[in-house]
Amino acid sequence: MYVLAALFVLYLFCSALTSSQGWPLDCTPRKTVPYHSDNGKLFRENDVWNYTTMALREDLGLIFLGTRGAIFALDINNINNKKASVRWGVTEKQQKECTYKGKDPEIDCQNYIRILHGTEDGRMYVCGTNAFHPMCDYMNYTDGQLIMHNNQEDGKGKCPFDPFQRYSSVWVDGELYSATSMNFLGSEPVVMRSSEDPIRTDFKSSWLNEPNFIYMDHIPESENSPDGDDDKVYLFFSETAVEYDFYHKLAVSRVARVCKGDLGGQRTLQRKWTSFVKARLECPVLKSQLPYLVQDVFRVCPAGWTTCVFYAIFTPQMHFSDHSAVCAYSMHDIKQVFTEGKFKTPVTVETSFVKWVMFSGDLPTPRPGACINGAARKQGITSSLDLPDKTLQFIRDRPLMDQVIEPMNNRPLLVKKGAAFTRIVVASVVALDGATYHVMFIGTATGSVLKAVNYAEDNTEETSIIEELQLFQSSEAIKIIRLSKSTGHLFAGSEVGVVQMPLSSCGRYTSCGDCVHARDPFCAWDLAAAQCISLSPVATQADSKLIQNLQNGDASGCPPPEMAKLVTRTFVPGNNVKLECEPISNLAKQDWYLGDKTLVLSDKYKVHNDSLMILNASAADAANYSCWSVERSHEHEYRWQKAKYQLTLGTNGDGRWVLPTSPQAQSSRQHLVSLQILVVLLSVMLALLVAWNFYKGHLTLPCKMGRGQAHTNSSRGEVANTQQPLQHTEEKTSAPAGNRNNNHANLENTISMDGHDDVSVI
Ligand SMILES: *[C@@H]1O[C@H](CO)[C@@H](O)[C@H](O)[C@H]1NC(C)=O
Ligand SMILES: *[C@@H]1O[C@H](CO)[C@@H](O)[C@H](O)[C@H]1NC(C)=O
Ligand SMILES: *[C@@H]1O[C@H](CO)[C@@H](O)[C@H](O)[C@H]1NC(C)=O
Ligand SMILES: *[C@@H]1O[C@H](CO)[C@@H](O)[C@H](O)[C@H]1NC(C)=O
Ligand SMILES: *[C@@H]1O[C@H](CO)[C@@H](O)[C@H](O)[C@H]1NC(C)=O
Repeated sequence: MYVLAALFVLYLFCSALTSSQGWPLDCTPRKTVPYHSDNGKLFRENDVWNYTTMALREDLGLIFLGTRGAIFALDINNINNKKASVRWGVTEKQQKECTYKGKDPEIDCQNYIRILHGTEDGRMYVCGTNAFHPMCDYMNYTDGQLIMHNNQEDGKGKCPFDPFQRYSSVWVDGELYSATSMNFLGSEPVVMRSSEDPIRTDFKSSWLNEPNFIYMDHIPESENSPDGDDDKVYLFFSETAVEYDFYHKLAVSRVARVCKGDLGGQRTLQRKWTSFVKARLECPVLKSQLPYLVQDVFRVCPAGWTTCVFYAIFTPQMHFSDHSAVCAYSMHDIKQVFTEGKFKTPVTVETSFVKWVMFSGDLPTPRPGACINGAARKQGITSSLDLPDKTLQFIRDRPLMDQVIEPMNNRPLLVKKGAAFTRIVVASVVALDGATYHVMFIGTATGSVLKAVNYAEDNTEETSIIEELQLFQSSEAIKIIRLSKSTGHLFAGSEVGVVQMPLSSCGRYTSCGDCVHARDPFCAWDLAAAQCISLSPVATQADSKLIQNLQNGDASGCPPPEMAKLVTRTFVPGNNVKLECEPISNLAKQDWYLGDKTLVLSDKYKVHNDSLMILNASAADAANYSCWSVERSHEHEYRWQKAKYQLTLGTNGDGRWVLPTSPQAQSSRQHLVSLQILVVLLSVMLALLVAWNFYKGHLTLPCKMGRGQAHTNSSRGEVANTQQPLQHTEEKTSAPAGNRNNNHANLENTISMDGHDDVSVI
């Protein structure tokens, strides 16, 4: 049975690799910015690890940071300015108890701060895993000090026991909504509201089945609601599917929601949600592959909650590929599935096998899972306590919608190969054209941040990655990202530290063409100052002429770029000559000219990622060469002369640009020819010898193969020198199979660190 399932999965995998989708499966960042300490400000303290919980308090000008055993309050304008800190470690007794239960004292039996929420009265609510005994407390920042109230309450159901387990929470009107596991073993998942009478999910696998909680958010749907609807809390997670029966264990992504006013049922579903409904979330990356799993979500609401869009990142399950994706979901689509969609219902087929199919009967009224709205109130139902048993029993047994929630435009917004996506935030920025653009900042498992934009208002176009910037020196997975609107900064935390990074570094674009072509909504070229500047909302744009063209990247308004300076080079015939030409970006190609004619590439002329190679140059190659870096965006082309060389015949190379000198190369070639002749002769002799032996009745075979191999090795060794750069380029852009292993290793790392080691094994 499992063998069959494994074969089926393998079949899916193979068919996925051959399927084409008509949508780029690898978006290349326009620029790659390597690690530099100027990329952002780093905060870390000696002996403090796990900087993975964060809360911004723009009202206080502070960023609160939760780590292992400590909480910090940092200046939101400069995280190197530490305002206050407080230690909250574990007691010896707690650590011992935790160790007795088989946990590691240094890794597991510590207090990892997992929840940090600002409350309405200016305090902070904070919870920690506390050596597998979660506790919560309030905390104040007063007079430059962080003070714990030392009035600890049980954190069970609010904060995870296990620091490696994913969880989520949101603070709404003085109440904590949390999604985590409420026992030591991590086997009792719960979505809970912690008020005086807590409301939670039922312990049924049809409600939550080995979930991985990702993200929770409050949507104020009661605002201007024509049907008197209630506010809701949405939850994104992944879990083992109940509705597919081919697989041993197949995980799927979900979105679920509950109503804020839910008080549970009177008899049925007492103190349980009466409004918990969930639906499958689809992000189709490779056709027919195993579903991708949601890893993080960010909500953007341009004009009220009806316009909200959830940006979600996805990675493959079971490491079947090294693609990651972003899918966007509109509030409208999600709401429609929950308020109008059909439900799934379990039916028992044959003995005890349960299959989930669409429920096609009549629904009880009020509609199961709906919040108390105007229509319900008219029927005298003013709270969930008044809901009839029929409605409650229906939702208790059938919390799953039949319909799947599809992403906007039914496809991912972005797909990229390489390091797995880990976290996402989205900044809205008003550009020079008056339109608002959503800029995605995506953290990866190797410590970089991708900055990506879809320029079409309805996300119908292809998404561009403006840059990939390395934030952490070591390849540390980014575990949390927060966005500060007031300061225009991004805060990215990993296990080793936090980095504060500006949303844009326009100064990195040194020419007008580069600045405009980058299509960075934050940047424009200031003609008067002749520099690429950051567009801040307060900037007076009237007195200066600025160029920005996000839709087309049209740089024709730019002054003509400076021409390259002529460089004279001499060469010795028979040598290989290398002429450098640094392209403007990863997307630019080089156009080489010989005199004023386009250079036709051949075995003799090879273009590498940053240079032209002229192999075995002869006297006829003495000429003028020029290189243009050409970048295309829509119908616009930006051409920039990057290098100009006058190549003259010399008698003595200066060594810098001359590859292995000619006498050596030629003598090695001669050497090779004689070697070949020798091998042929030896082979003939050997063949004669073998034939003779056969004739005589003895049998000796080996030693011929050894020679054959030595021959191929030496001939490969000769060309390797010039081919290396080319191979490098290929790896970077098209990532052949060899690249995949690396990324697998990275992915595995992150996943086990996140506590996903319960990945099913077939
Ligand atoms: C905390 O950080 C350390 C050091 O990077 C790491 O080994 C450990 O796994 C982290 N703990 C958790 C719970 O992520
Ligand atoms: C905490 O701060 C709030 C608001 O600033 C204040 O009302 C309260 O008294 C403070 N509590 C403590 C224990 O400092
Ligand atoms: C190099 O070029 C010369 C003449 O231009 C030619 O005679 C020679 O065979 C070439 N060598 C190789 C290895 O192609
Ligand atoms: C190369 O360019 C230089 C400077 O523009 C010019 O003097 C020279 O004649 C050119 N050489 C050839 C072979 O065209
Ligand atoms: C070109 O390749 C070299 C190594 O072959 C690499 O160091 C360099 O970063 C590459 N340049 C670009 C612009 O990709």
